[in-house]
Amino acid sequence: VGVIMDGNGRWATSRGLPRFEGHREGAKAARRIVDAAPGLGIGTLTLYALSSDNWNRPPQEVQFLMQLLRRFLRLERDRCMARGIRVSAIGRRDRIPQKIRYLIEELESATRGGPRMHLRIAIDYSARDSILRAATRLAGNPTPSREDFALALSGGRNGAREPVRDVDLVIRTGGEKRLSDFLLWESAYAELYFSETMWPDFDVGELAAALEDFTRRDRRFGLLPQGSGTVG
Ligand code: IPE
Ligand code: IPE
Ligand code: MG
Repeated sequence: VGVIMDGNGRWATSRGLPRFEGHREGAKAARRIVDAAPGLGIGTLTLYALSSDNWNRPPQEVQFLMQLLRRFLRLERDRCMARGIRVSAIGRRDRIPQKIRYLIEELESATRGGPRMHLRIAIDYSARDSILRAATRLAGNPTPSREDFALALSGGRNGAREPVRDVDLVIRTGGEKRLSDFLLWESAYAELYFSETMWPDFDVGELAAALEDFTRRDRRFGLLPQGSGTVG
């Protein structure tokens, strides 16, 4: 499951609050969702925390997001270790503050092997940039297979040579119906769930409703609908 956690700013503005209050509440919502996800049967949860394009927001907002991220990563460390959640980050690491880079590395090694769920946090993430970098890695291979590409896309960080996996469900809150450069390769056949709820109000009940909705989808992968019989 991938989640585009959108609507923090509008949540705050509609209450006459500054945008950063929305981000603060949004971080709490993220914590709630991480807590509930393993119990709902989610194996891998990818949270879109900061897109590469989000750097272009006003510097005060970017700075606040960095502070929040630091606090989030610090708080999640013990919780995720205790609960068997493996954490990793996707996205560029060369532009984020060094302290956050260290926190991520520490979190990744402290939670390695966590069996209950894999939590992936997308920070300074751009799907198109990831695809470009993967293509560059494969420059020596003129005929890569999809598997080769999925492996290159994973970046092979921490010696973990595991290919990226397909996303089954993408949830976007905040009412917009777009992907905003999130997991484009991995979402080739993902089911999309759009919610009008602003991210800070997103709760476990709505996550469960999204998963329930997903179970009713007829996934075809280019084949015929279920139960349509044989052709010819
Ligand atoms: C999502 O909320 C959080 C980030 C992009 C970091 P927004 O900040 O985009 O909130 P809206 O879309 O302006 O309401
Ligand atoms: C997508 O939200 C990025 C995150 C939720 C982190 P944006 O608010 O940045 O996306 P756009 O600008 O509405 O497409
Ligand atoms: Mg937004």
